[in-house]
Amino acid sequence: MIPILRTVAEMRALARVWRKAGQTVGVVPTMGALHDGHLSLARRARRECDRVVTTIFVNPKQFNNPEDLKKYPRTEAADAALLATVPVDAIFAPGPEEVYPEGFITTVSMAGVAQPLEGHMRPGHFDGVATVVTKLFGMTLADRGYFGQKDWQQLQVVLRLVRDLNMAVEVVGCETIRETDGLAMSSRNVRLTPEGRTKAPVLYAAISAAAKDIRAGQSDRMAIREAAETMRAAGFERVEYIELRDAETLMPSDDPARPRRMLAAAWLDGVRLIDNIPV
Ligand code: PAF
Repeated sequence: MIPILRTVAEMRALARVWRKAGQTVGVVPTMGALHDGHLSLARRARRECDRVVTTIFVNPKQFNNPEDLKKYPRTEAADAALLATVPVDAIFAPGPEEVYPEGFITTVSMAGVAQPLEGHMRPGHFDGVATVVTKLFGMTLADRGYFGQKDWQQLQVVLRLVRDLNMAVEVVGCETIRETDGLAMSSRNVRLTPEGRTKAPVLYAAISAAAKDIRAGQSDRMAIREAAETMRAAGFERVEYIELRDAETLMPSDDPARPRRMLAAAWLDGVRLIDNIPV
């Protein structure tokens, strides 16, 4: 059985023992409802670190919609069973009162890369992410933190955070894990209806086609418009954004000499899906 730690004191005590023995600590921060994408992060941490901790904490500070927070799936027993297959050394699953005790007043606030796209659509989201990631790294004494490229902007935010605050943590960005039909794995996918699930892969197909057309010389704007039309025709209720951005700063970019990324967010079946690919 993998130990499930609930308090910062327990987590710290265990991490201190590991550190004292000269062992490296790899941390995979999650909000639970684990799938193969999370497990691939844990497996990579397992390969690269002496000790691996998966954190499970549904962070209220990164939800700007209280309904979304309420509906977020909580499946701790199933998550623990999946993590036993890796296996990880510990699960750190504190409650909200442990992470944000009475009197908590500190927020890590980020500008720049945290502002456009997800930052614009979900005000306060990345301040919530930056705050909790800072705390989780501190609580677990992380040497390395593992994050999926599926949340590309989040990955850039965390890279910037660690650099700006001189944290002694190496951030490792890992490939998006996809279903066989291309849909990026996400804890939100289970909320799609069976019919919605058949349409959802169109998001990845549409942005992949747009990226290919842009590489072949089509104008960015035309390729993006076609991708949005394809998604609407497939039944997506709303395309929030499809944008071609500088891969690191997330600012608009028409400079093909710099790495660029196409990022998209769209609603299907009342579920918000995001994805991204290199261009
Ligand atoms: O990607 C997530 O699941 C969350 O944003 C994270 C990094 C665990 C912070 O709560």
